[in-house]
Amino acid sequence: MAHVSEEQKKADNRARVTTEEFRAFVKEGWAPRPDTRPERAEVAEYAARRRAAISLAFPGERLIIPAGGLKVRSNDTDYVFRPHSAFAHLTGLGADREPDAVLVLEPLFDAAGEPAGHEAVLFFKPLADRESDEFFDDTRYGEFWVGARPTIEDIEAELGLSARDIGEFADAAVKDAGQIGIRMVRDADRELTAQLDTSRVEHGQAEETMAEQDDELAHDLSHLRMIKDEWEIQQMRDAVDATKVGFEAVIADLPRAIEEGRGERWVEGVFGLHARHQGNGVGYDSICAAGDHANTLHWIKNTGDIDEDDLILLDAGVELDSLFTADITRTLPASGTFSDAQREVYDAVYAAQQAGLAAVKPGNKFSDVHAAAIRVIAEHLHAWGLLPEGVSVEDTLDTEHGQYHRRWMVHGTSHHLGIDVHDCALATRAEYMDAELQPGMILTVEPGLYFKSDDLLAPERFRGIGVRIEDDVLVTEDGHENLSAHFPSRSEDVEAWIAQVQSR
Ligand code: GLY
Ligand code: MN
Ligand code: MN
Repeated sequence: MAHVSEEQKKADNRARVTTEEFRAFVKEGWAPRPDTRPERAEVAEYAARRRAAISLAFPGERLIIPAGGLKVRSNDTDYVFRPHSAFAHLTGLGADREPDAVLVLEPLFDAAGEPAGHEAVLFFKPLADRESDEFFDDTRYGEFWVGARPTIEDIEAELGLSARDIGEFADAAVKDAGQIGIRMVRDADRELTAQLDTSRVEHGQAEETMAEQDDELAHDLSHLRMIKDEWEIQQMRDAVDATKVGFEAVIADLPRAIEEGRGERWVEGVFGLHARHQGNGVGYDSICAAGDHANTLHWIKNTGDIDEDDLILLDAGVELDSLFTADITRTLPASGTFSDAQREVYDAVYAAQQAGLAAVKPGNKFSDVHAAAIRVIAEHLHAWGLLPEGVSVEDTLDTEHGQYHRRWMVHGTSHHLGIDVHDCALATRAEYMDAELQPGMILTVEPGLYFKSDDLLAPERFRGIGVRIEDDVLVTEDGHENLSAHFPSRSEDVEAWIAQVQSR
């Protein structure tokens, strides 16, 4: 039997009856498209400043920043599109925008041939006209199937940069490749990266240094996001406020989540509903962990029940259309009241968080926040007699030896937060962990204590209790502003919050 490829079989099965008559008929009889352009996006001027900063770092070089393409979920269905974070940051395009687009920062030169900045050009797939087959017949990109895209003029009006058809990108990308440096963001679109690698080498770029040079660009783009501009700070405030709506909806529904069974799924669904309604959706998979599940740090299966006596650890954040996301954790007694043992653990974590928060100020190092919080965690573990015999708080905090306390809090206390939940991840240790905090940075403060149900070294009363408290904090000139301070966090305040929300 002749071999028929999988792709061909799928295409054969999908093929629709298409007559010449139908093709002609479907393309006509549509009202003219509106002759209006979108307004200039508020983010456009901020995105232009970000591009200017990256332009300064790479004079005379072409910089290629792809959005990435659609990703297959299974068979012929794709995931909802999310552009690469660097692309979103430099263009201002957020949720759902624009699959397969590529931002090119094209180097400019003055009369003397010296580098003179860059021109931003967005190559993308513009709206196809109704005479095209794409219009009705392309299930992945066609207007009939997935909706209309912007035109070139729309994008130029919205973003204030030049736009061109993606069909022109391949040549533009390697033009003058022998004479100018070309760098690209490699992880946005693996296929495009492979194609361009070949093409760049053919055009004379040295293969050995190519990936290394690209990595420098990726690093700079990641680090560029570390100090948030005023527009970004407002996005973060809005994301945090939207997240509070989701948390309160969960609190209001806790009795139902207990009663229905499969309560973790219920909580995930309720938060997801409000995340989708308030913003674009969740910024990362929500952790809805009841009882012992809270001791699995990234419990995103959310398949469990919630019992009346459980704590429920909800680590969730709303992502806005701009892709900026909050990242908040509260650990809530499902019944509305902490048991004595739960409160004991909770209050220890609260004290650690207060110590961490107090360390968030310019002049302190990023790592000082963890140092302050983990000291309090270690002090409690020591006071409870959980550290090995003869080990003092100082002994366990010694980074060369000991570190016994990490059995009960293995994660760090903070990370930068923004378009990515773990933002600026490519910054170096010197720029991140060892760097001084500066106004405009936004980070989490999220200590925890985790006593697994089968942890024989934990006091019996603590087994099965996991607590984390996480806030999102802006570094200011003289300290910090806790953007999520309106989420109650002291144990009594959490109980009062639950009572108040459930009595509405
Ligand atoms: N939600 C993931 C984290 O807190 O880092
Ligand atoms: Mn976090
Ligand atoms: Mn979190």
